Amino acid sequence: MAKSLFFGGKGGVGKTSCATAYALSCADAGWNTLLVSTDPAHNLADLFGRQPGPTPTRMRPGLDVVELDPDHETKRYLDQVKANIKPMVSGERSAAVFRQLDLARHAPGTEEAALFDALVGLLLDTGQHYDRLIFDTAPGGHTVRLLALPEIMGAWVDGLMQRRHKVRSDYKAWLGDGEVVDDPIQEALMRRRGRLAAAREHLTCPAHSAMVLVANPERLPALETARTRDLLEANGLHVSAVVINKCLPTTVDSQWLANWREEQRPWIEQLETSFADRLCIRIEHQPHAPASVEDLRPLYDALGELSPWHTHA
Ligand SMILES: Nc1ncnc2c1ncn2[C@@H]1O[C@H](COP(=O)(O)OP(=O)(O)OP(=O)(O)O)[C@@H](O)[C@H]1O
Ligand SMILES: [Mg+2]
Repeated sequence: MAKSLFFGGKGGVGKTSCATAYALSCADAGWNTLLVSTDPAHNLADLFGRQPGPTPTRMRPGLDVVELDPDHETKRYLDQVKANIKPMVSGERSAAVFRQLDLARHAPGTEEAALFDALVGLLLDTGQHYDRLIFDTAPGGHTVRLLALPEIMGAWVDGLMQRRHKVRSDYKAWLGDGEVVDDPIQEALMRRRGRLAAAREHLTCPAHSAMVLVANPERLPALETARTRDLLEANGLHVSAVVINKCLPTTVDSQWLANWREEQRPWIEQLETSFADRLCIRIEHQPHAPASVEDLRPLYDALGELSPWHTHA
């Protein structure tokens, strides 16, 4: 199974740039790599100069890219739900159930569930064809919620299974024949629970999954990054490094920039102190915003020291 790495952090700190630079370095090291964007506001096309698709698209030797499109994933997810329940509901009722599902498309949480389903599919199915899965995640809490979902959804499916079990035993007692009947709903729930458990196991195994937090040397990102790390780790995920991106170089040539650099200094120190027990990588502010994969070279070089996954002794 592929090893997965998630790049997370606040908006605009450099997640996409770092995830892309690291994915390029994995591909150059000979790993068959898939770079995944789970951010609804994608911008990988700008860096690669052409649009990747909603399914993995080869962009460079050894590197495929996929942008998960929330609309596409939601439609696929609801179509799959419909296919699953079709054999379980009778003809005249299915039209009403399907109408309900079409309405659910815009309900809160549906898109998140669909993206989560796609993430599980990438980890468990598509991931089989790759050595490395590099995730460029959406800003902020979205990632934490998405990664914590196997646990939450697992508990939810367990609850449904218990209720289903009770319905079946009541039904059997009522019929009085004690016959065990095939229950397609129970089977579908069992399958789903199995996949959630496998995804959770993958996400919490430090040899297979890790997270890198990207921050800028400013007050809010510095404070929030430590909190995000704690939240992720409380959910059993492993944060292996922090990238402090956009640090002004020591060679800046004006007083104005030198002042700004001095303002960054305490936040760099704060981040390095609170992440003292793991790898801290500083990346300099570049003279131009990287606009192509070639421009990512300094990030590529800096991220070379990253070895995010624990190796078993
Ligand atoms: N080290 C750097 N030096 C200069 N500019 C940078 C650096 N890293 C990233 N940038 C620029 O900062 C902007 C934000 O970077 P990027 O898109 O990688 O961040 P992000 O965290 O993915 O943002 P979002 O939260 O919007 O997805 C981009 O214009 C990018 O080119
Ligand atoms: Mg981004």
